[in-house]
Amino acid sequence: MNEIEKTPRSFRCLLVTGGAGFIGSAFIRYLFRQPEFTGRVVNYDALTYAGNLENVAGAVDESRYEFVRGDICDRDLVLRTCETFGVDGIVNFAAESHVDRSILGPGAFVQTNVMGTFSLLEVVRARPSIHFHHVSTDEVFGSLGPTGAFTEESPYQPNSPYSASKAASDHLVRAYAHTYGISTTLSNCSNNYGPYQFPEKLIPLMILNMLESKPLPVYGDGMNVRDWLFVDDHAEAIWMVLRSGKAGSTYNVGGRNEWPNLKLLEKLIEIVAEETGRSASALRDLITFVKDRPGHDRRYAVDASKIERELGFRPRHDIDSGLRETVRWYVANGGWIERVRSGAYRDWIEKNYGAR
Ligand code: NAD
Ligand code: TYD
Repeated sequence: MNEIEKTPRSFRCLLVTGGAGFIGSAFIRYLFRQPEFTGRVVNYDALTYAGNLENVAGAVDESRYEFVRGDICDRDLVLRTCETFGVDGIVNFAAESHVDRSILGPGAFVQTNVMGTFSLLEVVRARPSIHFHHVSTDEVFGSLGPTGAFTEESPYQPNSPYSASKAASDHLVRAYAHTYGISTTLSNCSNNYGPYQFPEKLIPLMILNMLESKPLPVYGDGMNVRDWLFVDDHAEAIWMVLRSGKAGSTYNVGGRNEWPNLKLLEKLIEIVAEETGRSASALRDLITFVKDRPGHDRRYAVDASKIERELGFRPRHDIDSGLRETVRWYVANGGWIERVRSGAYRDWIEKNYGAR
């Protein structure tokens, strides 16, 4: 059964939480490229280590854009912001997002991902004319064996503190829609890559280490499988769900693009070698097998047939074009990398927004 909304939702003002992070900023840049979006955007972000306003600089129409520094757990500030700007849609990207950090310190993940989502839902419960879209991950479904893929009906079996906190937030969204009748949509996406990704995640970390001839740390045997999607394709999928996704529904988003980490790394090495003139074999020599991540999920794969069938979603990038665009961006944006690595982007934030 086709479940799309008959009339696409339109928004006068979207509150994008986590809009200074990797995917939230790609979504804001994407929105300002869409002629059919004529509304305003409020970027609401706490500017944690992962938030960088450079990620949207120059990509927004300033007359339709506002930035508010705030924590999603601060319900009063979220509510005031919604009232001040006449927000009629919230897209929730704000989260602690790195699995390794969640293993070292799960508390921040429970706080932001669970309590933060709860706080946003309470705002929507008080202002039910606001539509709420929750951005989530395929990791909530746990780890797959060698075959099969996650569907929207797959049971939740989160294995890391990160995925458990995202699973809890998904359940709250479902429960609020069911119990209070608020309008929600939810998307569970596979691993993203692309420009502006914080260099703690696999692909940017490997690119930067290659550029500096540093070891390329591969966890375990390197045969863990991830399903990779270029970040702009994720932004497009969210926009489709936000506009036409059936209220109360969830959509799996993925690229049908599974790669064992080691095979992906070999492909990345070829592209970095071609783009920079470095020797591929010298780059391969940098591969270093390191101790595995505790509880490391073996395989993720997303069955995206629902969003393909109902909303016509198709990723525009294949792995070759997506990785090449990503490598070119990191090679051309040494200034961004330097400011992220040195922490200089934090100095700018503290100067403009005060210490936190
Ligand atoms: P990110 O870590 O790059 O960005 C997170 C952003 O949220 C940052 O700008 C940070 O400052 C902000 N933030 C953190 N805590 C906050 C708080 N309490 N209040 C307000 N803002 C806060 O993350 P990302 O990779 O862009 O992921 C965005 C969303 O997409 C997350 O919800 C994540 O779970 C989900 N997701 C990510 C991937 C992926 O591959 N990166 C895949 C699927 C889903
Ligand atoms: P990551 O980018 O952290 O995403 P996630 O854990 O959310 O899937 O990691 C992607 C894969 O790469 C995952 O299997 C862990 C592995 N990995 C490494 O082998 N080495 C690294 O240095 C990192 C950061 C990840």
